Amino acid sequence: MNFDFDVAVIGSGPGGYVAAIRAAQLGLKVACVEKYPVLGGTCLNVGCIPSKSLLQSSELLYKISHSSKDHGIQVENLSFDFSKMMERKQKVIQGFNQGISGLFKKNKVQEIHGTASFISDHEIEINTDSKKEKLSAKYFILATGSKPIDFPFLKLDEEKILSSTGALSLPKVPKSIIVVGAGVIGVELGSVYSRLGCKVTFIEFMDRVCPPLDSALSKALKKELEAQNMEFHLKAKVTKAEMSNDGIVLTAEMSDGSQKSFEAEKAMLCIGRRPYTDGLNLEGIGVEKDSKGFVKIDDNFRTTKDNILAIGDIVAGPMLAHKAEEEGVVCAELLAGHSAKINYLAIPSVVYTDPEIGAVGLTEERAKEMNLNYGAVNFPYKANSRARCMGEDAGFVKVVFDTKTKHLLGTHIIGPHAGELIAEASLAITKGLTVTDIATSCHAHPTLSEAFKEACMQADFKALHI
Ligand code: FAD
Ligand code: NAI
Repeated sequence: MNFDFDVAVIGSGPGGYVAAIRAAQLGLKVACVEKYPVLGGTCLNVGCIPSKSLLQSSELLYKISHSSKDHGIQVENLSFDFSKMMERKQKVIQGFNQGISGLFKKNKVQEIHGTASFISDHEIEINTDSKKEKLSAKYFILATGSKPIDFPFLKLDEEKILSSTGALSLPKVPKSIIVVGAGVIGVELGSVYSRLGCKVTFIEFMDRVCPPLDSALSKALKKELEAQNMEFHLKAKVTKAEMSNDGIVLTAEMSDGSQKSFEAEKAMLCIGRRPYTDGLNLEGIGVEKDSKGFVKIDDNFRTTKDNILAIGDIVAGPMLAHKAEEEGVVCAELLAGHSAKINYLAIPSVVYTDPEIGAVGLTEERAKEMNLNYGAVNFPYKANSRARCMGEDAGFVKVVFDTKTKHLLGTHIIGPHAGELIAEASLAITKGLTVTDIATSCHAHPTLSEAFKEACMQADFKALHI
């Protein structure tokens, strides 16, 4: 049978566009179908990139106003223009929108805009406001991403009740926000608005912030964010919402069983995201999903239909852009007949707060649950000369290692540039290195990376500076 394309990718987020480029590089005839007029998906348009852009602007402002005096720098009449920050963010996004389009042209990936829906295993219909087209392919890669979750009694309106998408394009800084869910989105966007002068109050269901993190980092992060004037209510559950003249009133059941009301100009819901497969007609063609709506796949990304593969936020695993990208590359390589695999334990996660968090591998709690012979040690940034020169010595590097074999099992960093530093730990886990390997490799002085080396030295034998 002849098909229009070897591979049609549905969705142009970091999973989809990367899969499309790699498949084309490997000689396949590829199309990528995107329902929005711009490429890049959640990550580029309403996720990673706009949030990091606003985090950068607000951190700069916060550092000038809070730390410049320590460096002997006086800044008078400091002010900021919120609309300029938003414009800058938009420019960063647009640059990359065009960049992906350019990469598609360069690699001969056909860019198609419209909403895809399956007619059969090998054919989709692509709908736009003005027309309907059909496209056939030997293989399909589903990469349709995720959408924010809300409550039945608290529906997103992006006016008073915001998702991250609404929070990333507000016309002005609100006076106050109640953030429901102190997970990654909550603490990142909460930090942005807190730094810009908004009163930020968190209501979190669990007993800690960013629950998947090693508990030592969760505790340290909460303390640092509290010192920046953010307020946390843990083990609290929102049960009711009412609109008020000035904003919104949320009632929560608190950890002691009492009911407490919180009023703010806006509420922001960051209680997780759901896989988005609406309108694809997966049921119609027999592609199965699990009870949470994730598309079921095998070890080679194949769904319950052999020629249809799925990657990124619509399949189980961390909802991270780089996880989607890795899956995109491996999936394309498998379709081109190569063998490829992902080491999921070596996928890092970064929280772009100040201090920043970088984590990879097993947490201490997980190593304990797994009954491993593990050790865990911390090296504080207070004992790192670069961090002291920067005036950013809050935090530490924690390594979890196998006490018998000395293999590195996990690394958990809270401190400046943790997101960059974690790459070394990720490489070490990918390559099965030991703490001795890292402890005996020379790290430049004075750098933050010495803190990771020293933590590994402590795990191996004894650190020099503690
Ligand atoms: P998506 O990026 O969601 O892309 C899916 C695409 O498919 C969309 O463009 C959508 O329009 C399209 N689509 C859907 N249905 C159809 C259809 N029927 N036909 C055609 N097209 C369709 N991750 C990180 O790693 N680091 C971060 O710093 C980070 N920050 C984030 C900040 C925020 C505020 C949010 C919300 C998320 C963040 N993430 C971050 C998560 C990251 O954005 C996602 O994990 C990533 O975008 C998932 O990629 P994906 O390719 O699976 O899907
Ligand atoms: P999340 O899963 O990180 O956090 C959700 C939080 O909401 C959790 O702490 C959870 O306990 C809490 N929660 C759930 N139900 C609740 C309720 N009823 N009341 C109060 N709290 C409740 O999800 P989030 O922050 O929405 O982010 C979604 C995804 O986007 C994440 O999985 C993350 O991987 C990704 N992301 C990644 C970023 C990064 O890598 N830096 C940045 C932002 C998002």
